[in-house]
Amino acid sequence: MGSPEDQAYRLLTEHCNGFMVSQVLFAACELGVFDLLAEAPGPLASAEVAARLASSPRGTEQLLDACVSLKLLHVDVRRGEAVYGNTELASTYLARTGPRSQQNMVLYMARTTYACWGHLAGAVREGRNQYLKAFGAPAEQLFTAIYRSEAEQLLFMRGLQEVWSVCGGSVLAAFDLSPFPLICDLGGCSGALAKECVALYPACHVTVFDIPEVVQMAEKHFSFAGEERISFREGDFFKDPLPHADLYILARVLHDWGDEKCSQLLARIHHACKAGGGVLVIESLLDADGRGPLTTQLYSLNMLVQTEGRERTAAQYRALLAPAGFPRVQCRRTGGTYDAVLARK
Ligand SMILES: C[S@@+](CC[C@H](N)C(=O)[O-])C[C@H]1O[C@@H](n2cnc3c(N)ncnc32)[C@H](O)[C@@H]1O
Repeated sequence: MGSPEDQAYRLLTEHCNGFMVSQVLFAACELGVFDLLAEAPGPLASAEVAARLASSPRGTEQLLDACVSLKLLHVDVRRGEAVYGNTELASTYLARTGPRSQQNMVLYMARTTYACWGHLAGAVREGRNQYLKAFGAPAEQLFTAIYRSEAEQLLFMRGLQEVWSVCGGSVLAAFDLSPFPLICDLGGCSGALAKECVALYPACHVTVFDIPEVVQMAEKHFSFAGEERISFREGDFFKDPLPHADLYILARVLHDWGDEKCSQLLARIHHACKAGGGVLVIESLLDADGRGPLTTQLYSLNMLVQTEGRERTAAQYRALLAPAGFPRVQCRRTGGTYDAVLARK
């Protein structure tokens, strides 16, 4: 335990070192440690890992041992030699072939999010995202900066979709969506949430609506074999006519934008929405006083460094939805990272 001073200093040290923890995870993913160990017939010695990854023996051993402390790898001693293997966490979430792999999201955070967070103080001072400083990318048009190269767009799309293999079921089951046969997922990106939706609701059809370059990349790089109940439509949800639907999903869309643009989008949805229809907002909800949960507060700062928006409380979503013509608003926390808000016309 130690004295209160010791505890305070320990907490300070933990906070200061937090970024090093992220970097251990990022570096191990970048180097391919988890993929190598997932494909190997058994645990490997650090010298073998170094040889296969063409990395230094010294650095590799240190990295592997740090991964053991972080419970990403386990170590056994066989015939006097330490051998390393993936823990369940790493083989499920970090290896490329893991059943719920989040590897692309980790790589996106390592390459893009981390660079933007290097300018957090600037973002707080200026109140805007940091693509110009981090990447020399002007951000007057937000998604022009986010999709500043084809490789960057593909990593964003691959990264973003991965969370739905973990959280998609719970956010879509938070409310019974079976009364809504025609669903439009606005800003639906690669169509990953749409796939979860048709799996959960056997009678529904989902139109994924997104900007042309995203729809084209989804059709080129993401498989929709056997998904007859999912279709794509290209358009700008701030300008172009929206597909008619019973339910509009806005998953991690409103948090990209300031209140004015959110209101504009919700008014357009109200205009297109069928009678008795609604909007399902999927976001990470802040507590009523805005002072927690910490993960959501960090996501909200992430919206500051990477978008024009923020995370919001349930009351703040209500205040956007009701004036746009969706007065009946229900909020459900899922206990996971993302929550659900259903608003009826
Ligand atoms: C943060 S991503 C969320 C993607 C997806 N809903 C998810 O949760 O994984 C925001 C999405 O909105 C799309 N988007 C941004 N501006 C748009 C616009 N003006 N019209 C249509 N889609 C847009 C982006 O291409 C992107 O797919």
